[in-house]
Amino acid sequence: MGKSDRDYRRFFPLLRDSDLIYLDHAATSQRPECVIEAEMEFYNGKNANPMRGLYELGMEATQAYEEARETVARFIHAAKSREIVFTRNTTEALNLVAYSYACSFLKEGDEILVSIMEHHSNLLPWQMAAQRTGARLVFLECAADGSISQEQMDQAFSPRTRLVAITHVSNVLGCETPVAQVVRRAHEQGAVVVLDAAQSIAHMPVDVKAMDVDFMAFSGHKMMGPMGIGVLYGKEKWLEQMPPFLRGGEMIRSVSRTGATYAPLPHKFEAGTVNAAGAVGLAAAIRWLEEIGWETIRERERALTARAFSGLLTVPGVKILGSRNAKEHCGILTFTVEGVHPHDVASILDADHVAVRAGHHCAQPLLNYLGVSSAVRVSVAFSNTEEEMEQLVACVGQIRRKMGYGD
Ligand code: ALA
Repeated sequence: MGKSDRDYRRFFPLLRDSDLIYLDHAATSQRPECVIEAEMEFYNGKNANPMRGLYELGMEATQAYEEARETVARFIHAAKSREIVFTRNTTEALNLVAYSYACSFLKEGDEILVSIMEHHSNLLPWQMAAQRTGARLVFLECAADGSISQEQMDQAFSPRTRLVAITHVSNVLGCETPVAQVVRRAHEQGAVVVLDAAQSIAHMPVDVKAMDVDFMAFSGHKMMGPMGIGVLYGKEKWLEQMPPFLRGGEMIRSVSRTGATYAPLPHKFEAGTVNAAGAVGLAAAIRWLEEIGWETIRERERALTARAFSGLLTVPGVKILGSRNAKEHCGILTFTVEGVHPHDVASILDADHVAVRAGHHCAQPLLNYLGVSSAVRVSVAFSNTEEEMEQLVACVGQIRRKMGYGD
């Protein structure tokens, strides 16, 4: 990273004239101006309820919304745009699969496999589905660095495995999971794979066809798009068979006093007024990421992570969770500072204008397994700078002294 190191900050209105060092991209990224403008342009020039108004403005709104769907389909290499369902976020997309697919097609004795690394969003829906159907929830364990061995896979899979829900990248350890192996194994025995791509979608190319996952969920707000818009990708053959998740306006073909038939995909799963402005903003975020390019994004994030990783390791009392190899952290470094509560670490960093997340990161089973109740998380985007990493390390280096320790 050279002289242009700071350049990306200027695209973000919130960061442009600020000294904030924002390192909480895994919780939500910042929004570049082009995304904010795209949403604003929808409301200023195209605002009508999509799929309803037969007047020109209504048709423009529908067109903008459906073009956004095409952009998402292209971005993740879906075969058809009808395989893209807009949701509020990853959580809603995963709940949709749990309520609609799992509760309809799983039965007593079946097994749902989840990894121990899952965010609560990719765990609680499966706990619910297991309770309702009588299926059993089975955990795929991992090592302390997040790696999953062949033996752990052998122990977790059984002939009764019917659904595997796994994260693409851990929101705590930052490691990538062995999706190809999981998909191969699951498909060999007719199980479906639900991929939580919330933490990978903004950081690496994601290709649903190449990965052959059955479902995939992600949020707009973690990829520089708006809050309140998310995506469920589902293979057409599954979505066609699944009942609606939410029922109401615009997801029907016809309604009688006693029943209804449903609209074709993907509208069957989009009840009520949709977040068209959010979808348009998400499409703008996708175009922006594509313009910057994966090579730049990955190279910058790898360099930033490596810088923070090696710097933090030199600070007495700092312990980074997960792999010893910075390359395996996908921009996420979760750590503890000996003798200082993670909430205090985050508050001290906040006083230095460094924003990080502290807590259990909605992944309590993983933290329990790792033997920590709470930790601090730094999560970067390509728009961060090397100077910010240096400042982070310098600020963390002061924490124990500020708390009265001698080092
Ligand atoms: N899922 C988000 C995180 O990990 C909120 O912080």
